[in-house]
Amino acid sequence: MKSILVTYFSRTGNTRAVAEAIHGALRTAEIRPLREAGSPEGYDLVFLGFPVEMHSIPFPVEEVLRAFPAGTLGALFSTHGSLQGHRLSQEALEYAAVLSSGFKLLGTFHCRGRLSVRALEELGKSSEHEEWTGMAASAATHPDAADLEEARAFARRIEMLAAHGGY
Ligand SMILES: Cc1cc2nc3c(=O)[nH]c(=O)nc-3n(C[C@H](O)[C@H](O)[C@H](O)COP(=O)(O)O)c2cc1C
Repeated sequence: MKSILVTYFSRTGNTRAVAEAIHGALRTAEIRPLREAGSPEGYDLVFLGFPVEMHSIPFPVEEVLRAFPAGTLGALFSTHGSLQGHRLSQEALEYAAVLSSGFKLLGTFHCRGRLSVRALEELGKSSEHEEWTGMAASAATHPDAADLEEARAFARRIEMLAAHGGY
């Protein structure tokens, strides 16, 4: 693999921590927050991460996904307050996979990420967010060491797949 970019959008550091774990597991890769990443053009493989927000993808991430250069190999990762395995933990990744039709998606990874008690209380007031905020209190210890280890294993798997042209 020649050039690999790990880029992420993160408000409170959870997705950044996962991005750093992914970056640390790769032999040679650059890591940049999305706002500093510039065009993903020219990279052989791009890892793109984001938090699930309002059941969806943060807008700046959506913009990048829509404009992804065709043919680039990519992998997506996200963090979320909802329980691992619950449909609400995967909805944004599924949407992102549809938007990223420009690149060849090699895989996805997601794990839980904590919210402040204050954010939980505020968001929990709206019926739209009741279901996931109800689950999110128990995300308080995430991302934890096991999550970051899984993220590293994901990174190595994707790197290997990409080295074989994505097959
Ligand atoms: C405004 C806001 C909306 C959120 N919406 C969702 C959601 O719809 N579903 C969910 O599972 N988690 C949701 N979360 C939880 C975040 O996805 C989670 O805390 C994530 O790890 C934050 O990542 P960050 O620290 O990289 O910003 C929301 C958090 C905030 C602050």
